[in-house]
Amino acid sequence: MEFSVIFILSNTLLLLSSSAFAKTASPPSLSPTPAPAPAPDFVNLTQLLTVAGPFHTFLNYLKSTKVIETFQNQANNTEEGITIFVPKDKAFSDLKKPSLSKLTNDQIKQVALFHALPHFYSLADFKNLSETGSTPTFAGGDYTLNFTDDSGTVHISSGWSITKVTSAVHSTDPVAIYQVDKVLLPEAIFGTDIPPVPAPAPTPDIAPAADSPTQQSSDSRSSSPSLSHDFSSSYKIMSYGILANLALATFGVMLIL
Ligand SMILES: *[C@@H]1O[C@H](CO)[C@@H](O)[C@H](O)[C@H]1NC(C)=O
Ligand SMILES: *[C@@H]1O[C@H](CO)[C@@H](O)[C@H](O)[C@H]1NC(C)=O
Ligand SMILES: *[C@@H]1O[C@H](CO)[C@@H](O)[C@H](O)[C@H]1NC(C)=O
Ligand SMILES: *[C@@H]1O[C@H](CO)[C@@H](O)[C@H](O)[C@H]1NC(C)=O
Repeated sequence: MEFSVIFILSNTLLLLSSSAFAKTASPPSLSPTPAPAPAPDFVNLTQLLTVAGPFHTFLNYLKSTKVIETFQNQANNTEEGITIFVPKDKAFSDLKKPSLSKLTNDQIKQVALFHALPHFYSLADFKNLSETGSTPTFAGGDYTLNFTDDSGTVHISSGWSITKVTSAVHSTDPVAIYQVDKVLLPEAIFGTDIPPVPAPAPTPDIAPAADSPTQQSSDSRSSSPSLSHDFSSSYKIMSYGILANLALATFGVMLIL
């Protein structure tokens, strides 16, 4: 009698703890392992972020803080799904004033978690979110984001960063990945004493491929000089040959004369 009550209680606790926070730990698998989830549902976040972008800086933060595992677990194992805002590499290199360099590892981790919502949102869903005000992120607590929908363009505000969704990298339930223009800086770390925004230089909104080809071209640049060097030296040899022939010919003509 008593035993069965305890048994039921502990089972309930197990259920509660595993469902409430599936992300905190891999649930203890006491029951025989279920058949593996159907493969097509699996979205490999690392792979997606490696191929798209370039998002290398953000991906490196996700890896170094192990937040990538939290996100992947949420994508794999929850009904809620996940929405991730990924800044391009350029957003990190443009980050001057409050920089990430002075943050502790824990704070870096919070910043990484701050870039995701523990729920799948399609772009159309943000209209709703803009009415709810502060939206909780994966970082929890005061780490909230505000959304506004301007006739289809989703704007995001963290207080410090005001940016927008510039493209959808992936948006199929349960995983949404949206590219954003800026790194999202939380007030919970940087405080609310936000300096007045210096009149933003009218950045060309659409600067396609402004930053992507330059990186790749550094590779080809390093290889091209040797190519052209080879070419010019063989050209020199060729012209010496012509000169020599000319000299011989001239010499021959002189002999005949
Ligand atoms: C996900 O993709 C990364 C990079 O392509 C790869 O290294 C990793 O093994 C993949 N993980 C799984 C579980 O397939
Ligand atoms: C997610 O699912 C893939 C494929 O089933 C698996 O290889 C990977 O280990 C899982 N990762 C997490 C964090 O659950
Ligand atoms: C927006 O919110 C309303 C009411 O809360 C809900 O009925 C509707 O399904 C929501 N729409 C989306 C796109 O989530
Ligand atoms: C977010 O919205 C709430 C409620 O409208 C507001 O009080 C708060 O100041 C906003 N925060 C930011 C960072 O815009």
